[in-house]
Amino acid sequence: MDQIKQAVEILNQNDVVGMPTETVYGLAARIDSELALKKVFSVKERPFFDPLIVHVSSLQQAQSCFQTWPQIAEVIAKKFWPGPLTLVMPKSVQISDLITSGLESVGVRWPNHPIAQELIRQTGVPLAAPSANKFGKTSPTQAAHVRNEFGDSIFVLEAGSSEIGIESTVLLIKSNSDLAILRKGAVLKSEIEKYLADQKIVHQWLEAVDKKESPGHMKHHYMPDIPFVVCRNPSLKLSELGQILNSKLNELPDMIDGVRVVKPKQKIEKIEFLRLSSDPYQAARELYSQLRSASARKPEVLCFIQMPMHNSEMWESLFDRLYKAASLIID
Ligand code: TXA
Ligand code: MG
Repeated sequence: MDQIKQAVEILNQNDVVGMPTETVYGLAARIDSELALKKVFSVKERPFFDPLIVHVSSLQQAQSCFQTWPQIAEVIAKKFWPGPLTLVMPKSVQISDLITSGLESVGVRWPNHPIAQELIRQTGVPLAAPSANKFGKTSPTQAAHVRNEFGDSIFVLEAGSSEIGIESTVLLIKSNSDLAILRKGAVLKSEIEKYLADQKIVHQWLEAVDKKESPGHMKHHYMPDIPFVVCRNPSLKLSELGQILNSKLNELPDMIDGVRVVKPKQKIEKIEFLRLSSDPYQAARELYSQLRSASARKPEVLCFIQMPMHNSEMWESLFDRLYKAASLIID
């Protein structure tokens, strides 16, 4: 049997499967299976306050997840879907509270990945899928990452490395014209802004968003299993960096927002450096798999040095992940 058919059968038996997408691998469940949705939370050890993103394979299917489908959503979806953009708007009755964590809105996206699209099409209903990692941990960009995370009991569709490498941009659309980026990703605010202006679509960017409208933003997230540090001062000498690490890392609390903060086991003698491409799109592709392979080598500490060249909008999306993955940020 081909792997997609096998995955559809598993989903139809109220179970979950690892699904490749162009951003990261997800842990997918049918949106109409309460059992499977609950399993997503239990396998991930994810708290119920963090809502799931619903994945569709057509515009019509996306519309069925929302209460209404305003013109601004149509314009944005036609431009950026299928792709790494999640739209958040009021949900339809089809979407359960388990998916939205009790919120009245739902996040929906049409992934740009042939296997994800075919899986959703053959299943016949949208699939809810968070990233396929344990809560607070590094997201997976390869099937092997998902297997390492959950073991062989979870079926994972094999599809090589994710093309984008970081999670989708999450865009809130309120009152048919008010917008806010809830999570930065590869679809940039400036790209959305330019397109809407070109299309003469009336809109405005909200200055601030109510905290309860934007759940799932813990201080720590995407964390590798080793102490990871971002240093924002590139002129710091190695010896100074070592001293700061040895004093500051040990002062950290054990837990923040329910996520275990990774601390060194002994005095740090040797620092390993995370090296990413200077092209932020390539760096996004490398980031999570580098964090995972570095963890496997178990260095005493892993450090990323932020440089003045890391200053484009796409780098901002990457730093959102890097800062949250870090146990410590040094200025
Ligand atoms: O690229 C992606 O979006 C990946 C792949 C698998 O599609 N999925 C993903 O899911 O990143 P997850 O569960 O790791 O992130 C979901 C986040 C939530 O933590 C929250 O920040 C936001 O998406 N979100 C989901 N539904 C929302 C809602 N109704 N209102 C506000 N934010 C929501
Ligand atoms: Mg995630």
